[in-house]
Amino acid sequence: MERKYNFSAGPGTIPVEVLEEAQREFLVYREAGASVIEISHRSPEYTAIAESARSSLRSLLGLSEDWHILFLQGGASMQFYQIPLNFLREDQSADYLVTGAWSKKAVTEAKRFGRANTAASGADVDFKAIPDPTTWDLTANAAYVHYTSNNTIFGTQYPSEPVTEAPLVCDASSDFLCRPFNVDGHGLIYAGAQKNIGPSGVTVVLIHDDFFRTRKDDIPTMLDYGTHVEKLFNTPPVFAVYLVEKVLRWLKNLGGLEAMENRNVAKADVLYERIDRTDFYRGTADRDSRSLMNVTFRLESEELEVEFIAEAKRNRLLALKGHRSVGGARASIYNACTLEAVDALVSFMDEFEKEKG
Ligand SMILES: Cc1ncc(COP(=O)(O)O)c(C=O)c1O
Repeated sequence: MERKYNFSAGPGTIPVEVLEEAQREFLVYREAGASVIEISHRSPEYTAIAESARSSLRSLLGLSEDWHILFLQGGASMQFYQIPLNFLREDQSADYLVTGAWSKKAVTEAKRFGRANTAASGADVDFKAIPDPTTWDLTANAAYVHYTSNNTIFGTQYPSEPVTEAPLVCDASSDFLCRPFNVDGHGLIYAGAQKNIGPSGVTVVLIHDDFFRTRKDDIPTMLDYGTHVEKLFNTPPVFAVYLVEKVLRWLKNLGGLEAMENRNVAKADVLYERIDRTDFYRGTADRDSRSLMNVTFRLESEELEVEFIAEAKRNRLLALKGHRSVGGARASIYNACTLEAVDALVSFMDEFEKEKG
């Protein structure tokens, strides 16, 4: 069976070159004499893979040695409680910018540990826009300010990194490394790998040492960031890290984050231009909050949306259904999605409108 154009919101498409390379070396990994999933996580081979992935992250994001780079399990969802468990003291509060379903989940978990203040919320406009920073109700001396840089379900994205007095904590799961990112002002950045940088099973967590030092004592061993900063404590998700290393190398070879941004802007422009050209398709996010990664739109009726998604699938265009909580259509055009795939989608949208419009 042939590979089709994949617009899945996650796990999402992976560069075909990466899949081919992994396929070629799957049975015997280089000098190891065994598959990469059959060797020790303390072997020189795996150590080199993890070091190379770290070094790529450092160079892509310009991270100094003050940043700890961890490859953890439990998904981005585990970070929702691991962060407050480590950093939210009883006598403090943390601010949360609620811009969609994932940040709502994050604030719900934080409330289990301490005072979590919803400093801004896009709920009153159905999350179609990122709330204006002048309206944010930030707390003095907050432990941190948590935000979700890209809202996978609602198709919105911060136009640039927020600026706050308290350290920023960013859930970058659905737009990690899609464009240059200013890490200044951040204490912690996390991203599940399965959208932009690899398969599910590993979450990249970047922690600045100044922020790391503010964490609490007496945290259960596996949930204490200190455990993982200190050493390779237990078996990491070897195969996922191995693929992440390859995706990061692919990204560096393409020219890094500026080049990636150019590609992503070109793809998003083509698709939003098509949506805006007529009234047949309606973008759901406000223009200045539109995401480069998840393009959400509606058609005239739910019946027509069902037809659109099914007909698209017959035309080699996969996974265009919107999230079950909001309906509609969504094209996730992550880093590995090609302009060719977006062009194919736009041609299909033209044909579908001609037939049904
Ligand atoms: C922005 C964002 N945060 C968190 C998550 C949850 O990630 P995980 O499934 O790795 O727990 C998702 C998943 O889609 C997401 O899009």
